[in-house]
Amino acid sequence: MKNKNIAIDGPAGAGKSTIAKSIAKKLQIIYVDTGAMYRAMGLYFIRENINTERPEEIEKACDSVNVTIDYKDGEQQVILNGENVTKLLRTEEVGKMASTVGTLQEVRTKMVELQQSLAKIRTVIMDGRDIGTVVLTDAGLKIYLTASSKERARRRWSELTKKGIPCNIDEIEQDIIARDNQDMNRDISPLCQAEDAILVDSSNMSIEEVIDKIIALYYDKLERG
Ligand code: DC
Repeated sequence: MKNKNIAIDGPAGAGKSTIAKSIAKKLQIIYVDTGAMYRAMGLYFIRENINTERPEEIEKACDSVNVTIDYKDGEQQVILNGENVTKLLRTEEVGKMASTVGTLQEVRTKMVELQQSLAKIRTVIMDGRDIGTVVLTDAGLKIYLTASSKERARRRWSELTKKGIPCNIDEIEQDIIARDNQDMNRDISPLCQAEDAILVDSSNMSIEEVIDKIIALYYDKLERG
């Protein structure tokens, strides 16, 4: 095994963060949620009303924004220019802007540097869109985790409904498809399965089944050396 890091890529709503977080606890390694970093950049762009069509505005924003990561009780905290913004990142608006800022080279260069530096000092399980293909190309285990857009929409709908938030499953699926398109078809580091990644389709699997499968694959790789 090249190293003990695990890279998980896949589309929005495939369950990457829930699964990666749980595996990190079980294997006692560090979970790095790279989507949260792009979300923090997205939040900054929203707050500063930055026009993503204007290169000079992007350049200026990238010069004045600083995203860092901290850990509190084992949970990743995202710090945007000194402010802990972790609790502000999970909205649809921020998710959409994260996907848009993720198309920008300046933003990606900054984020990839930070992610690689995190993995240099500890063993990590990192999830995102370009982890196996760009950030941790030598990860010991690479997983491409996906599920059908219908199933991902159903999970999101169920999550929101449980919280009492009114929503429409067809609209959720349309948003998911639009985000997939943007993430998979951008020019720079588009979401795709790395050549040496193992495909896991969770459409008909429970969270526990996916976790067990990935851990089994990890031990298998470790044993083979
Ligand atoms: O995983 P997420 O939904 O929190 O990610 C939000 C957006 O951030 C996603 O739609 C695309 C972008 N992203 C990216 O471009 N590269 C990553 N490694 C992680 C996220």
